[in-house]
Amino acid sequence: MCGIVGYIGRKDSKEILLNGLEKLEYRGYDSAGIYVLNKAEDGYLFKEKGRIAALRKKVDESVKATAGIGHTRWATHGEPSVRNAHPHQSISGRFTLVHNGVIENYEEIRDAYLADVEQKSDTDTEIIVQLIAWFVETENLETIDAFKKAIVALEGSYALALMDSEKPDIIYAAKNKSPLLLGKGDGFNVISSDAMAMIKETDQFVELMDKEIATVTREALIIEDFTGERIERAPYTAEIDLDDLEKGTYPYYMLKEIDEQPAVLRKLLLKYQNEANQLTIDQKIVDSILESDRVYIVAAGTSYHAGLVGKELIEKMTHIPTEVHVSSEFGYNTPILSEKPFFIFLSQSGETADSRQVLVKTNALGYPSLTITNVPGSTLSRESTFTLLLHAGPEIAVASTKAYTAQIAVLAIFSEVVGIQKGLIKHGVMLRDIGIAANAIQSIVDDKESIEELASEYLSTSRNAFYIGRGMDYHVALEAALKLKEVSYIQTEGFAAGELKHGTIALIEEQTPVIALITEKSVAGHTRGNLQETKARGAHTLAISMEGLNRPEDQIVIPHVNPLLSSLAIVIPTQLLAYYCSLHRGNDVDKPRNLAKSVTVE
Ligand code: F6R
Repeated sequence: MCGIVGYIGRKDSKEILLNGLEKLEYRGYDSAGIYVLNKAEDGYLFKEKGRIAALRKKVDESVKATAGIGHTRWATHGEPSVRNAHPHQSISGRFTLVHNGVIENYEEIRDAYLADVEQKSDTDTEIIVQLIAWFVETENLETIDAFKKAIVALEGSYALALMDSEKPDIIYAAKNKSPLLLGKGDGFNVISSDAMAMIKETDQFVELMDKEIATVTREALIIEDFTGERIERAPYTAEIDLDDLEKGTYPYYMLKEIDEQPAVLRKLLLKYQNEANQLTIDQKIVDSILESDRVYIVAAGTSYHAGLVGKELIEKMTHIPTEVHVSSEFGYNTPILSEKPFFIFLSQSGETADSRQVLVKTNALGYPSLTITNVPGSTLSRESTFTLLLHAGPEIAVASTKAYTAQIAVLAIFSEVVGIQKGLIKHGVMLRDIGIAANAIQSIVDDKESIEELASEYLSTSRNAFYIGRGMDYHVALEAALKLKEVSYIQTEGFAAGELKHGTIALIEEQTPVIALITEKSVAGHTRGNLQETKARGAHTLAISMEGLNRPEDQIVIPHVNPLLSSLAIVIPTQLLAYYCSLHRGNDVDKPRNLAKSVTVE
């Protein structure tokens, strides 16, 4: 979490840093700060609690500087406050540092070196800058050597940018586990957690790898390892359309991204089609999976929920046994693995630390892996054997919507291609049926006003709510509940419809909203029965069903789609219910409290 930027060139650095931080706000928005340095000893520090907009108001317009670093924070150690906001400075004010990550041994370092140094914040980060200053002051080291020595002592994750007020023409950077890019310009250079933040300045980026150090000046980017060995790495062109980063006429990114889903699915069908108009994926991926005896899907949050749907698709179409695991659990409580496992990492951002720690372990064991991600060049993509892209365009709203449907569509394409090669499927239908699902989504989003009314009728004042379903609908119920709780703050549970009566039904009170998802013929009657059981106990019930299985009393009926793809369509009304509920409650839809989009700490 947290996002960092740096700029060194000839333009007004504070504006570039603030603009960059605005683009990184998805990584955290508890506090923000910038430090700009004009010439030796002429540095200015601005910090504020809350959003970049609040920081902007605090920045002195008259300050002019052509170098600087900035940070937007998702609090880990220490409450959100100005005191804990980055950048952090050494006692003398000479060294200033921003950090994304978590230092696990910060207490040991403090006790070993800094017992006599006054701590100005409650963060783990501050010890890094104090330690650098300590090495310079007590061991007479050059800044670069003190920086290296300090980072060798660190355990944990970090993307760091450091400025020394006595060397105004240099930004020092380093990384371990947390992402960091160096951007190349003409007469300037930048650093950033994400290319999106600096795409206005340059589209040429160089990845910094773990345990590498960069010295960034106006003219040069010098990368070396801890031993001082120089590393040459060619830049790549970041393909980001600036228009994709804007909301346009939409009030919130979340609504824009919900509306984009039909277009995303159609784009995916084009991207994964060959000249013979058949769906296809890299044959090396197919060969690798055909050699395996079991698939392990590893993911977090919404991506985990997409993985649950993915298991159904893979098992039904390829007959390969598939397990789905929450990444934060898997790495430290690993189940007994099959002889030839194949790992699939699902991650919108490609940066989720919980998932990455699993990938590091599976790589060490030599197992093949596929990352399905929206971000080309992301850490998980780089470090896994294979990548399939979601092509969903940047997802800016913290609550994930279009990445979820894109993940399911890619898993459906993947499963069908493998199923055909195994001889289990004669005629592929996914090209047609994902297209039909895209049309179904279009008709649901076109009728969003009716869902807005239901959101206000069912959810405007409730404290808690339930989504229920069976089979595929249960998996979607989990995602629907997560979406509602994260943006509306209503405590919501997704439940297997048949399981409710085994205890949780005790929570049903007069007017508790219970929303049933009904797209599976074989269990539709049972789910309806379970909904009735809650109604008999006072619940305010709402049924979302699929055409063909609908009843006159159902409040939302979605068009019929291939039942294997029902999740793509039935999730849409639940996304819209969450969106409108959040809007009506006056919440910040795109940036719900306590959250960040890219979770780069374990
Ligand atoms: C919820 C949401 C999160 C993410 C989770 C994993 O709307 O966005 O639950 O799905 O943090 O993130 P990725 O997919 O980037 O690995």
